[in-house]
Amino acid sequence: MLVSATEMLKKAVEGHYAVGQFNINNLEWTKAILLTAQENNSPVILGVSEGAGKYMTGFKTVSAMVSAMIDSLGITVPVALHLDHGSYAGCYQCVKAGFSSIMFDGSHFSIDENVEKTTELVHVAHNLGLSIEAEVGSIGGEEDGVVGAGEIADPNECKRIADLGVDFLAAGIGNIHGKYPENWKGLDFDALAKIKDLVGDLPLVLHGGTGIPEDMIKKAISLGVAKINVNTECQLYFQEATRKYIEEGKDLEGKGFDPRKLLAPGFEGIKAIVKEKMELFGSVGKA
Ligand code: 13P
Repeated sequence: MLVSATEMLKKAVEGHYAVGQFNINNLEWTKAILLTAQENNSPVILGVSEGAGKYMTGFKTVSAMVSAMIDSLGITVPVALHLDHGSYAGCYQCVKAGFSSIMFDGSHFSIDENVEKTTELVHVAHNLGLSIEAEVGSIGGEEDGVVGAGEIADPNECKRIADLGVDFLAAGIGNIHGKYPENWKGLDFDALAKIKDLVGDLPLVLHGGTGIPEDMIKKAISLGVAKINVNTECQLYFQEATRKYIEEGKDLEGKGFDPRKLLAPGFEGIKAIVKEKMELFGSVGKA
């Protein structure tokens, strides 16, 4: 069932768990994540970066594929199709393409410009029943061409954006896209607690979910994080399983070269990591 992410994240805040956003790249990714959500009776958010959207030939294709797949696979758990780190133009494209949720990443603008553009997009999204995520304080590292310095969000700026009526808020608290470096200082829980104090029950979003230790994930959830984004880890699991298949020479045996066979171990790898994350985030059985 394709829905906005508003209700599922409200329930997550009330129930003290988080819903995973898993980014998709193609049919295998989408099918693996949808089936895992259904098998675990968990709500799920499919994240689409602008780069991945282009790769899949456009947001229209993505939207059509996701809707059709929900139908053909008989997926009854709540699924949100969400634009990840959207530009201003990208948000409008996704609204038009039939996404159920958008993220406007205005973190690289001045706070006034971020407020102005977010205000407009909140109206557009809500008029059409979509949920909207905003961002304050950039997420470090690089994701699909979106590069962030990794600033810690200013709690007062978070409050300003929260007051615009966004449905959930990504606030930088030392989190980074991609693998964490050896000398990473960890999440800034003081900043998170201050933000939570000011924004109340607004669901908070933790980007850069790959590689954050379990205890930090649990603490973040206890401080109001209700959505956790994971991208790189699915890519790594897919890569590892595919590499193993080829290194074992399985693609050379019989019809092992058939793409449906060649991509199957990677597909199972994504399913395994998504299940593990759903268990850690506490969303299993919460659909
Ligand atoms: P990772 O790639 O670090 O898991 O981050 C994903 C993310 O935050 C998507 O917006």
